Amino acid sequence: MRMSLVVSALVLIVAVSASGHAAAPPPQIPATFTNLQVLPKDIARPDLVNGMRSFALGLGVRCEHCHVGEGNDLSKFDFASDARPAKLVARKMMKMAAAINGDLLKGVGEPATTPKVTCYTCHRGAKTPLTAAPAGGGI
Ligand code: HEC
Ligand code: HEC
Repeated sequence: MRMSLVVSALVLIVAVSASGHAAAPPPQIPATFTNLQVLPKDIARPDLVNGMRSFALGLGVRCEHCHVGEGNDLSKFDFASDARPAKLVARKMMKMAAAINGDLLKGVGEPATTPKVTCYTCHRGAKTPLTAAPAGGGI
């Protein structure tokens, strides 16, 4: 169970990082990570950073929405801290997306092109996704 969660989390982050942004990680981001609870502890730094960029783009936020720090100088950030509530929600969201991608979409589409959900699938660039259709929409 634990193992399959880790594997699906890796699939999630590889899927999100494959969707764009090949830029090299900025040097201010630490070389080692000390508080990974969902991602594999030995994840390559470019994969982690690309995944984080996808989180930020998916929700239309900056790193500081989930991480303790301010502004553009990422060397002053405490990325390992869990003090920002959004980071804790994001871990739950990662597990949710990994569960959906791991099993629940099996049989949708051809095996080679089974769709994957990403943060963007629901959030569409917003912190809070819409959870109800607009009044009177559709008909
Ligand atoms: C939507 C929330 C969210 C956003 C936005 C976000 N992160 Fe993260 N970040 C997380 C979560 C959750 C973890 C921990 C993942 C885990 O436990 O496996 C994490 C972990 C990290 C870590 C590893 C810290 C450690 O030592 O354990 C780094 C470095 C990091 N993020 C950098 C960034 C950067 C740089 C940005 C902006 C480009 C960013 N993050 C944007 C949620 C976010
Ligand atoms: C299946 C749809 C879905 C997916 C996929 C999804 N989310 Fe969410 N997310 C939601 C919903 C629904 C809420 C709650 C909105 C509300 O509070 O009304 C939410 C809330 C959040 C919040 C709290 C909002 C805030 O104000 O900080 C964070 C953080 C978050 N999601 C991060 C993520 C990240 C990171 C991913 C990708 C790993 C992700 N979500 C993928 C549906 C989704």
